[in-house]
Amino acid sequence: MKDDHSIKGINRREFLQSGVKYSAAAFIATLGVTRLLGTPHMQTVASIGNVTLNNGIKMPILGFGTLYLNGEVGEKCVADAISLGYRLIDTATIYNNEAAVGAGIKRSGIAREKLFVTSKVWVDDSGYEKTKRAFETSLNKLGLDYLDLYLIHRPRGDVKGSWKAMEDLYKEGRIKAIGVSNFEPEQLRDLMAASTVKPTVNQIETHAFFQQPEAYTFLEQNNIKMEAWSPFAQGRNGLFTNETLTKIGKKYNKTSAQVSLRWHYQRGIVAIPRTSQKAHMIENLNIFDFVLGEADMNTISSLDLHTTQFPEWE
Ligand SMILES: NC(=O)c1ccc[n+]([C@@H]2O[C@H](COP(=O)([O-])OP(=O)(O)OC[C@H]3O[C@@H](n4cnc5c(N)ncnc54)[C@H](OP(=O)(O)O)[C@@H]3O)[C@@H](O)[C@H]2O)c1
Repeated sequence: MKDDHSIKGINRREFLQSGVKYSAAAFIATLGVTRLLGTPHMQTVASIGNVTLNNGIKMPILGFGTLYLNGEVGEKCVADAISLGYRLIDTATIYNNEAAVGAGIKRSGIAREKLFVTSKVWVDDSGYEKTKRAFETSLNKLGLDYLDLYLIHRPRGDVKGSWKAMEDLYKEGRIKAIGVSNFEPEQLRDLMAASTVKPTVNQIETHAFFQQPEAYTFLEQNNIKMEAWSPFAQGRNGLFTNETLTKIGKKYNKTSAQVSLRWHYQRGIVAIPRTSQKAHMIENLNIFDFVLGEADMNTISSLDLHTTQFPEWE
């Protein structure tokens, strides 16, 4: 942790409250799930705390990513994730799975207002009119009547036209919060200068090998929440077997994946890991019963390679 009193992005009160909640949930859940799954790093199904966005909306600090989870598999994964305690579900038009995600939400049986659903407008739909249409299509596919968060997926095309459409939808109450993805600080500055509603979130590639310190500082200074996509770098560069992460994990009886997610959490970054396996869903939730010490946080900082692990997406 950065200091004794706060975890970045979560105020002290929220953290203490969520800490109590996590401990209680961890204790109760440990009793049942340990017996079910048997391995030490899969003991708990904890409840997930929230961060508060700059417009007052609460967003879970850990969510579920759905890239490549399509069709029946996608539907089942989303339903499983919700049944295990995930509340933030991240999709996008370009994933071509909004219908499956919507079906998974329905199958879970959970009340809509308990969820935090994110989708994103793709570059082909940039501009005012197209973004408005794309939003309606996303809602229809998801089977929902509002989104919690709608993002501009990439800073391409008529970004300001898209943003104006999103501002209008936000003001009409059709979206609880609006934000961006893959924006550099300069691009965000430019957008903010032409906006009446400030972006709440920037969803960017962030993991141990690409930590984005400049973006981190900029977003913090501007009270825009940093959200990590590919929090495991999809396992590239050997993240799941990385010697340093594994060694740190051993100290806490945790896996490299759990250390990675805990590192995001302690930096106040919202992370949205994706998995198709129930055991991994549980493992990835089980990060609230340990605290990485300052030395470990610094050691993880030293893993930064300062470059994307997804050059093909540049
Ligand atoms: N805004 C953007 O431009 C953008 C770009 C990329 C992604 N995203 C969002 O971010 C989400 C997450 O990123 P991602 O899907 O690219 O990758 P990721 O979450 O970094 O990694 C997913 C991979 O990790 C494996 N995995 C998950 N938990 C594991 C565990 N505990 N142990 C070992 N392996 C584990 C999964 O395999 P198994 O299925 O076998 O568990 C899967 O192959 C996406 O799903 C999407 O919602 C957004």
